[in-house]
Amino acid sequence: MYDEPTDFSKAPPPSDAYRIVEVPDPFRELQARRGVAGTFVGTDPGDSPWIPFGPNAAIRHLAFDVRNNIFSNILWIKKPGVIGTHYHRGQIVMLCLEGSARYLEYDWVATPGGFIQEVPGEAHTLVTDHPEGTKLFGWMQGAIDFYDDEAKFAFTADVWWFMNHYETYCRENGIEINEQLYI
Ligand SMILES: [Fe+2]
Repeated sequence: MYDEPTDFSKAPPPSDAYRIVEVPDPFRELQARRGVAGTFVGTDPGDSPWIPFGPNAAIRHLAFDVRNNIFSNILWIKKPGVIGTHYHRGQIVMLCLEGSARYLEYDWVATPGGFIQEVPGEAHTLVTDHPEGTKLFGWMQGAIDFYDDEAKFAFTADVWWFMNHYETYCRENGIEINEQLYI
């Protein structure tokens, strides 16, 4: 019979060496030749600017992955209001960073630290009631179909839509494209 671990004192070995440690890697050469580097997007507006998303919101793009139709960003809803009804065709994870957000369809309210997971086939309407709105970090996969309040289809946002949103704004405002966003 399998014994479940009961020792919860395990943690990374303590170190104050502040030294880069080379770990054994049987595929080091292959990784150097075929691997890709991770990315970093800092908080400077030059790294990624806030870009208007309708009259009451802005998006700060963080990542685009065209192979997997994945896009990541921070959505900032600036004051109490609604971000349209939408239907998901992929999985979404979000973390509330500031303010608060909820969906008309559910009974919970996300406050800073609150974690949201959404699945394909879900349709819902995002709102914030907080006087200072909300900021939501999102890691999103698959198309999002937006509808108006009469359930009439408006547009589909996928990785290409978000990439175009970023590149068009940069082009029109003389901002250099940040290659770190393209994973
Ligand atoms: Fe959603």
